[in-house]
Amino acid sequence: METAVFKFEHDMPVRNYPAPRWTGDEYRALERAAELIRNGELVAFPTETVYGLGGNALDPEAAGKIYAAKGRPSDNPLIVHIADCFEFYRLCSEVPDEAMVLAETFWPGPLTMVLPKSFKVPDVTTGGLGTVAIRMPNSAVAYELIQLSGVPIAAPSANLSGRPSPTRGDHCVRDLDGRIPMILWGEDCKVGIESTIVDLTEETPAILRPGIITPTAISKALGREVIIDPALLVNHKPYGVADGDGLLLEGEKDAPAPRAPGMKYRHYAPKAPMTIFQGEPDDVRRRIETEKAKAEAEGLTAGVILFSDDAFEEAARNLFADLRKMDDEGVDRIFAGALKQSDERGFAVMNRMLKSAGYNVIDV
Ligand code: TXA
Ligand code: MG
Repeated sequence: METAVFKFEHDMPVRNYPAPRWTGDEYRALERAAELIRNGELVAFPTETVYGLGGNALDPEAAGKIYAAKGRPSDNPLIVHIADCFEFYRLCSEVPDEAMVLAETFWPGPLTMVLPKSFKVPDVTTGGLGTVAIRMPNSAVAYELIQLSGVPIAAPSANLSGRPSPTRGDHCVRDLDGRIPMILWGEDCKVGIESTIVDLTEETPAILRPGIITPTAISKALGREVIIDPALLVNHKPYGVADGDGLLLEGEKDAPAPRAPGMKYRHYAPKAPMTIFQGEPDDVRRRIETEKAKAEAEGLTAGVILFSDDAFEEAARNLFADLRKMDDEGVDRIFAGALKQSDERGFAVMNRMLKSAGYNVIDV
């Protein structure tokens, strides 16, 4: 299949509307992409978190194509992207007040809500679950695409299954060229890790996937306690996790399966073996230098991922791109410095870094 790749000069957060002045070419590309979506085809598009691989969320065949293009297991449900809160009433059988509160506080933005699904959402989209995950992304290109399509767009991250999520247009081209009819190449993703997922279908709201919107921020917006899916904490032990305002953050040794089916997969695996070093920042830096020199003495090449202390947002923005760069350079070993997990954003980035490294952590 021939893949049309269109590069945008204009993309921006939706919050900065009035809309950018699209050039004629840009607008025509958006119209073409929307037509593809309406016809049940797939289009990769930018969001502020990671690029998405989109299809009509209400069309079971289109949703099926997404799993096929990514090589993704079909029990792993898709996130449905919307551009207007009215969509709640099309997609959900029930809309709790708290969903509206979170939408007003964080949307458009990197937060996904899990809600009871309506009969209009096909089972393929939700991997057979009775709930649906919904998000309003903060990218003008994504916003226009959803608006012009006239349908909610189901979109997982636009990587091949098992590769790091794409945060730059060229990552999508690399993974999906020849597999889908169109790629919209917008800005580099400003957040860089996938959205926070909060489940609002149980008695107490629960974080199913950590992200840059923190449990504390969600708890403050709702004015009540929020729990973290215990399955998320298991592999972070004994490294300690955040202890924000009144949140339940105690890890359990034998946690049940994660409540977001996708969180059980290994994900993000770079090709080279990866080791995370954890400890005082200066000790970690020295240890990584030593390990790198040792590897090089053995004739191996080594890549280093080391963010400045407390630069959590920068780490989120660059982690996946750095991992992909190391794959492209074909390094033999990857050495990374752990981020402080007592910070909730540090915890979110570490969730991805630990998976990339297959939980291979050394205390220094
Ligand atoms: O930032 C993001 O959320 C990006 C961009 C494209 O919006 N999307 C994304 O999608 O990360 P994906 O498919 O890579 O991850 C979706 C996650 C999976 O872990 C999946 O199991 C979970 O969301 N999920 C989807 N629907 C769910 C549901 N009804 N209940 C629980 N978890 C759900
Ligand atoms: Mg993904």
